[in-house]
Amino acid sequence: MKVLNFGSLNLDYVYSVDHMVQPGETLTSKERNVFCGGKGLNQSIALAKAGVSVCHAGQIGAEGSVLTDALIEQGVDTKLVQKVDVPTGHTVIQVDKSGQNCILLFGGANREMTKDYVDFVFEEFSDEDVLLLQNEINLLDYIIDKAYEKDMKIVLNPSPFDSNLDSCDLSKISMFLLNEIEGAQISGETEPGKILQVMREKYPGAKVVLTLGCDGSVYQDGETRIRQDIYAVEAVDTTAAGDTFTGYFMAAILSGSEPKEALDLASKASAIAVTRQGAAPSIPMREEIDFLI
Ligand code: RIB
Repeated sequence: MKVLNFGSLNLDYVYSVDHMVQPGETLTSKERNVFCGGKGLNQSIALAKAGVSVCHAGQIGAEGSVLTDALIEQGVDTKLVQKVDVPTGHTVIQVDKSGQNCILLFGGANREMTKDYVDFVFEEFSDEDVLLLQNEINLLDYIIDKAYEKDMKIVLNPSPFDSNLDSCDLSKISMFLLNEIEGAQISGETEPGKILQVMREKYPGAKVVLTLGCDGSVYQDGETRIRQDIYAVEAVDTTAAGDTFTGYFMAAILSGSEPKEALDLASKASAIAVTRQGAAPSIPMREEIDFLI
């Protein structure tokens, strides 16, 4: 079994601010850092740090080698990542005093993939393999159809939730991992119980993991629901907390853990991630988790 993560690779320009900049306001930031990020890259790194062997596919521009270097450093297979003549995806992220963030995304190379490239990537995979996706790349609908044709299991983190997803056949998804905002957008409900109920009605074959910020997370498989509390910590930067959760949850399930155990591990990993600055650099190694929490 191989894991293919077809996902974004971004350079994150992170600005520390007193408060999020308001319309019409000019605000001086206290510090700027550049980190490796992108929901795709972060989730590949979380999977790799959790001990899963993962192959990343996606696109970067000329200045994106630092991103593939970061993946390679963690043991992620990057042979399918393609360099194109388009700027690398990047973000402008504000992080305030409480560790909350605001993210402005420029898709760049992440959004210039062609069907030929997608076809080329899928030549390497079969029905024994698992595909992980987020929503920061183009051709998501085509990629889902292609993986489904191959009988691959498809795990989707529909983040950020936008009109790109309208053309995707979400009945082909085996597992959704989403936060309460994405849950509300996909279901039209705001109360977690109702979000899960709508997800079950709309996608009866899919397992769902709904993260609820300070209220923890819930796993749903048919009639079964399992709840998990958070590990309370002082947040410095919440960027990539969701990606850390996704990577660690998926890694635990793939290595045979029960969902309750997987939720617990993912909650611990994301609690550590929010105590550190940046996206990819904040993701803990598997060995750190039992030691730190
Ligand atoms: O989930 C966090 C990520 O979202 C950041 O690394 C940024 O690149 C955006 O894609």
